[in-house]
Order: sequence, then C-alpha cells, then structure tokens
Amino acid sequence: MAYKILCPSIMCADFGSFRSEIADMDAAGIDQYHMDIMDGEFVPNFALSWADFAAVRKMTSKPLDAHLMVKVPSIHLPYAFKNGADIIYVHYESGNSAKYLQEIKLNGRKAGLAINPGTRIEEVQNLFPLIDTLLVMRVNPGFAGQSAVPEVEKKLAFLADMPNRKFSIRLDGCVSPDVISKWSARGIEEFVCGTASEMFGKKRGLRTYKEIVEKLR
Ligand code: DX5
Ligand code: ZN
Repeated sequence: MAYKILCPSIMCADFGSFRSEIADMDAAGIDQYHMDIMDGEFVPNFALSWADFAAVRKMTSKPLDAHLMVKVPSIHLPYAFKNGADIIYVHYESGNSAKYLQEIKLNGRKAGLAINPGTRIEEVQNLFPLIDTLLVMRVNPGFAGQSAVPEVEKKLAFLADMPNRKFSIRLDGCVSPDVISKWSARGIEEFVCGTASEMFGKKRGLRTYKEIVEKLR
C-alpha cells in the first residue's frame, strides 16, 4: 500500500456541526486538516475565516494547514502564526513568494507554495529550495466541486519523476479516489480530500468518515 497523507478540506464539512465533524474525522484516522482561507479578491469567494480556524484549532491536536488564497498574504500571515497553523501555503500568483516563504520558516512553520493550474514548473522551480511542500491545484482555486484542468496531469508526471525531490507534494481540487490511487502509486504523498474524494457532499452518501478513510487508504 502506497504512503498517503489524507487531509480533509474543512470548507466542505458541515458548518453547523464542526465539533462532531472534527471528532468523527479524528477518530476515523485522518492525518491533517486543510483550511481554505479566501479573501474575495484573489478568488471570487469566501471560505473559512480566522475565527473558524481558531475554533478548529481548539478541537483537534492534528496538524492544520492554511491555504491562503489571498491577494495580500502579509495581512494574513500574522493570523496564521497566532492561530497555530502548522503548514502555511502562499500562492505563487500572489507575488513576493520568496519573502513570504522565508517569513513562514522564520516563524517555525512548514513553508508551502501553492500553484494554480496555469502556472508552469519552470516559473517556480527556483523557489523549491525554500519550500517544505508544494500544493498543486488541479482546479482554479475558489470553489469545491469543480472539474480538473486536464493539463495539470503533465505537470504532475514531471514532479512525480523528479529525482532527489526534497519537498512533499500535495494535490488539491477534484481529488477523487482514482486520483489518489494513481498518484500515490507514483510517489505523490499528500491529498486534499474535498467533495471529489467522496468524503463530503452528495458523493458521501450514507457512509461514515471511517468507511471513507478506509476506502481511500
Ligand atoms: C478549492 C479548495 C479545495 C476544495 C477541494 O479551491 O482549495 O480545498 O475544497 O474540493 P473538491 O474535491 O470539491 O474539488
Ligand atoms: Zn485548498
């Protein structure tokens, strides 16, 4: 069985019952939580607020990441530090990534770079020595339930075959059970589980988190 880190996307959970949602996912053996922070400008949507983040932080001791889909990361980074984010992803497309990645490391957190489907590896590879993890978006960020952008497959194949890779790769957006089995077999380690994973929404049906996590493992 290939090694996998499963990270439920909390923007897809039931906002009316965060406490039992988190308790059930913790008990089901998920590895980390994925927290989508949006500003309504970098993406035309809002997801979790820092108040939501702080609330979830108190409910679990598992690692929380902060996926910053924001135009101005410098406004949000102090909140990520204050609220105990373990891994912080800034988008390459927000600009000034080297500065932000360095600031994240200086604050003792794992530094992550997120890249949109349209961003090429050649544009970002000079930042690889600064990162612990690369978040590869399979959809244009902002909304759950979208279809994958097909061109991302080539980028993933390149990354999977990269010799001596020193950072982990996390896939986000339209990550289905098939996507998890295909790419974990090729050495990609981490998966954001939203609606496509069958962990949330209509595709979940009547199954429990435990059953879904067992299926995805
Ligand atoms: C999208 C978010 C994702 C989202 C993925 O912008 O970054 O975390 O929840 O969920 P699905 O599986 O619905 O694409
Ligand atoms: Zn995300």
